Amino acid sequence: MKVLICGYGRMGQEIESALLKRGHEVTARVDPDPSRGDAPSLSAELLESSEGVIEFSLPGGVLTNAALYYAAGIPAVLGTTGWEADRDAVRQIYQDEKAGAALLYGSNFSIGANLFRVLSEFAAQIIGPIQDYDVMMLEKHHSGKQDSPSGTAITVAESLLKVHPRKNRIVTNRLDRRIEPDELHVASLRGGSVPGTHSVEFDSPADTISITHTARSRGGFALGAVLGLEWLSGRTGFFSVENFIEDVVAQARRNQA
Ligand SMILES: NC(=O)c1ccc[n+]([C@@H]2O[C@H](COP(=O)([O-])OP(=O)(O)OC[C@H]3O[C@@H](n4cnc5c(N)ncnc54)[C@H](O)[C@@H]3O)[C@@H](O)[C@H]2O)c1
Repeated sequence: MKVLICGYGRMGQEIESALLKRGHEVTARVDPDPSRGDAPSLSAELLESSEGVIEFSLPGGVLTNAALYYAAGIPAVLGTTGWEADRDAVRQIYQDEKAGAALLYGSNFSIGANLFRVLSEFAAQIIGPIQDYDVMMLEKHHSGKQDSPSGTAITVAESLLKVHPRKNRIVTNRLDRRIEPDELHVASLRGGSVPGTHSVEFDSPADTISITHTARSRGGFALGAVLGLEWLSGRTGFFSVENFIEDVVAQARRNQA
């Protein structure tokens, strides 16, 4: 595919390598920073010469950019985070089906991290009903990370709550009391250069079952975004990365049957 990259920072550059590795072509690298990219802003002409877009930029431009992708009728993968306030407005744009116009968004495009979420949820379904096992989470990130817990930890914790029969609430703060049986503790550790480690632990008096995802580089996010664009091509509408992964898992199950 001929793909336009919007936002040519750390992730945009990773996206370029992942696109080239999978045999795609890059039409333009849009970035307002003149030291990066080769076009300062999006235009109808640039989009016309592209068959898809991958955007990892900053949240301020998401709504305007999404409207341009829709108007161009090309699939767009949006990895930018922090635009929750505009989510409904972007969804609204894609409400009217238009040939070729499709948007796939997510705060974590790593295939591994998404499979970790699916596995953790499945584990909670089968281990949760066994009274002996409690569940808790730990996430570790580098010293530069500005928020805690990570968005991924919250997403996984919310998936666990949906299926766990005894957990109803997430607690993320330091506890100066015993944890309540219906609380799921999500603890964060910050330091060093850790790109991101998430663990879910099911603990009983006799043993511990741990599921851990350890990110090694940003390459995993970039590959997931490129695979997401390939999946999106030919569809119309507004999709989350969870929709994409569910489809991948369902396909793997069908292939096994
Ligand atoms: N979804 C995921 O899997 C995932 C993974 C990593 C990072 N992210 C998110 O991706 C985004 C980018 O991360 P990064 O590490 O590459 O940041 P970065 O700061 O290295 O790069 C962002 C780039 O976007 C450019 N930019 C700003 N406004 C723009 C606009 N309107 N149009 C085009 N480009 C614009 C900036 O000049 C900069 O070069 C962040 O929101 C980050 O949280 C998402």
